[in-house]
Amino acid sequence: MPATLFHNASIFTPLDAKAPLSGPRQGNVKNIPHGAMLVRDGVIAAVGDENEIFRLAADMRDAEVPETNNLGGGCVIPGFVDPHTHMCFARRRENEFRMRIAGADYLDILKAGGGILRSVKDVREASDEDLLRVTLENIQNACRSGTTSLEIKSGYGLNPADELSMLEIIAKAGALARIDVTATFMGAHAVPDEYKNKAEEYVDLVINEMLPAVAEQGIARYCDVFCEQGVFGREQCRRVLSSARDLGLGLKIHADEVHDLGGAKLAAEMRAVSAEHLLAADADGLLAMAAGGVLAVLLPATAYSLRKPYARGRDMINMNLPVALATDCNPGSCFCESMPFVFGLAVMNMGFTPEEALTASTLNAAYAVGDNARRGSLEPGKDADFLLLDGETPAAVAYHAGTNPVRRVYKRGRELVIDNPQPCMAAGGGHHAGGR
Ligand code: NIG
Ligand code: FE
Repeated sequence: MPATLFHNASIFTPLDAKAPLSGPRQGNVKNIPHGAMLVRDGVIAAVGDENEIFRLAADMRDAEVPETNNLGGGCVIPGFVDPHTHMCFARRRENEFRMRIAGADYLDILKAGGGILRSVKDVREASDEDLLRVTLENIQNACRSGTTSLEIKSGYGLNPADELSMLEIIAKAGALARIDVTATFMGAHAVPDEYKNKAEEYVDLVINEMLPAVAEQGIARYCDVFCEQGVFGREQCRRVLSSARDLGLGLKIHADEVHDLGGAKLAAEMRAVSAEHLLAADADGLLAMAAGGVLAVLLPATAYSLRKPYARGRDMINMNLPVALATDCNPGSCFCESMPFVFGLAVMNMGFTPEEALTASTLNAAYAVGDNARRGSLEPGKDADFLLLDGETPAAVAYHAGTNPVRRVYKRGRELVIDNPQPCMAAGGGHHAGGR
């Protein structure tokens, strides 16, 4: 594949400093007003001022001379990385959304056998083909709004066979989609009906049967747990996470989403990569995370959808806690694939500057899924995953609310054609049928 020289762009990117950016550095975004990027084999070979990059190209041997691609003076940012989703599900739960906006409580719906448990029934009943189709549709919507890599959790199977099968579907979706997918095992997402009032026994099942199989098959990079009142307590989460760590998985925690159970502190103690949600986390927990090098992954679209107060993202940045943003896309607490929407909420309702939100949704998000070496900023050696925005600066993402501010999406230097009915599919990729 010939090299491509993308030029006539105002490039905005955080700069990787070999660790997630925190405190004042989180908002430190570099702008190259007349920028260009030389891309070879999908990887950024050079990025900088246009004149400098053109000079570089002029020195190249004839066989290497790149094609040029004029970006029309537009604003270019790294592709969004969405480090927390539950996009592999079989059916939507719009009826529950209607119940919630009429006043029903999210955790009460779960207690009554709905919520996550409804999605468990749906996934167990669905064919592999349907599960894959819905997952790919969700991925496609995400990539239409500029997501160029994302994480997907299991957690709607809740028995060994269905959890493994979810992880297989996630892997298949990752292979068919043109964007990158990281898988997280979340067997401890809820206590399934058949273990009602036997949470300890279910935790044993997760530890003794599911985790070893997941590790042996190598189909998940992380293990996540839902540490919440009426779901899994702190000690149960600690047990699951310790076993996962022993098996070589990275750790994540749904921490203090509705009630403060000390999930943030547990994340620090366990040296988790990230603690996520944190709507109810107390200052001690956040300080422990900052000291322990744990990323805060904030999901403001969930607060929006649950009508809860937003996580204290501004305070977190002020206390030098590195912050990432994610959609949490799932059929219950937050049906949203749009990183621009999340970006806008962070700016308008959590007090982030657009630059802080940019770092949170690109570089820090890449750290949250262990992809920082390849993604999250526009620098030599990283994949050429970038977006051409409809606007002048990253602020446009929050400013032009309720629309898709992403004009073009490039994955490894190739444009994903958004009008294609299946823009995220690799050429020649088709749906795989398969029974369950
Ligand atoms: O992050 N909190 C647990 N899990 C998801 C919701 C999943 C669902 O409602 O289906 C969340 O909010
Ligand atoms: Fe979640």
